[in-house]
Amino acid sequence: MDLAVICDLDLELARSRALEFGAAEAHSDYQAVVQRRDIDIVDVCTRDEHDPIVFAALEAGKHCLTEKPVAHQAHDVWRAVALAKTKGVKTKVGLTFRYAPAVAYMNELIQEGFCGRPFIFNGYEQNSQWLDPDNPADKRILTKPADDDPVGGWSALESEITVSSLEGYGAPIIDIGLMATSGAPTEVVGVLKNFVPERRRTNLQQGREPINIDDGDVFIAQLDNGALMTIQSSYVTVGNYPGVEARLYGDRGALICGVVDEGGEWQRLWSASAEAVEFKRLEIPERHFPPGYVAGHGWEETCYGNLIKSFVDEISLGGDTNVGDFTEGARVQEIVNAVERSHRTHGWVPVERGQG
Ligand SMILES: NC(=O)c1ccc[n+]([C@@H]2O[C@H](COP(=O)([O-])OP(=O)(O)OC[C@H]3O[C@@H](n4cnc5c(N)ncnc54)[C@H](O)[C@@H]3O)[C@@H](O)[C@H]2O)c1
Repeated sequence: MDLAVICDLDLELARSRALEFGAAEAHSDYQAVVQRRDIDIVDVCTRDEHDPIVFAALEAGKHCLTEKPVAHQAHDVWRAVALAKTKGVKTKVGLTFRYAPAVAYMNELIQEGFCGRPFIFNGYEQNSQWLDPDNPADKRILTKPADDDPVGGWSALESEITVSSLEGYGAPIIDIGLMATSGAPTEVVGVLKNFVPERRRTNLQQGREPINIDDGDVFIAQLDNGALMTIQSSYVTVGNYPGVEARLYGDRGALICGVVDEGGEWQRLWSASAEAVEFKRLEIPERHFPPGYVAGHGWEETCYGNLIKSFVDEISLGGDTNVGDFTEGARVQEIVNAVERSHRTHGWVPVERGQG
């Protein structure tokens, strides 16, 4: 497989990235690129609104990997699921942390029955990237105001808080929770919170202004198999990136997994059983590491290495296998949308589930 084209609105940037990553060409018009017959897979890694490119790629019959969310509303993600099915192509969402070897091993042990019937899943994805209000909310280094800079577009009214951490940071841990519990959420109750009310908007601003975004959130979900799920996501909670912690407690055992860069290590897994309740650290088997992994590789190349290998194998081997696809992205987005509704209505809300 060859990296054929790097496409960016900024052609100079596309050119320099093409040189850096060995792509044959650089382009600035994604519409033209996705129509090309020599392209099989499109990887959508633009900033926010991924769906226009996702739909264009699927329409053109390309396999599609996209950063989360596929679309902000779950019903639009389901439309993408249906289109991919019609076109006979495979999909994948950048739910990066399910590809961490420690998480993959945790999932394998759960599937083998190590925890037994799931009771409670606790998930966290937290770090302190935006604790400092002078760290611009927009992390791009701008030299002039950007066209999509939401000047005045962020309401300071408490009731109009914008979903942020829940979708960007909560999504991967929600995904891990759904995998770990094998349950379907029936209802949720949650709160979105703005802990740092004034920030610099971009690197071009010196002063701070009210920016009412969800920089921390907590929710509880009830699942159809009787399990409970609690999730906390935030980018203003002290700790290092990526800050993932997943705990599953069942009637036979429990597993605790951490994906946090600390003390020269970035992943850990512990287990305890009903008979031996003291948690012990587990070795993560080599089979969960990507090809080419060597000690010292960080979470980025390891998780992405596994993700890309998984997608390329699924496409080249054929068959029905397609993990972490848009269907799973839609399930995650259903929860994100339900938690937002719960916040706005101050109560438990049902999770509206689509077809899959
Ligand atoms: N999965 C993860 O662990 C992880 C980690 C970091 C970022 N992300 C995601 O990756 C995505 C990109 O993040 P980033 O920090 O690199 O953003 P960025 O803003 O630095 O880069 C995005 C690029 O997309 C280009 N672009 C925007 N619209 C385009 C269009 N229509 N056609 C072509 N190019 C277009 C922009 O010019 C920009 O260069 C985001 O969705 C982010 O959430 C995921």
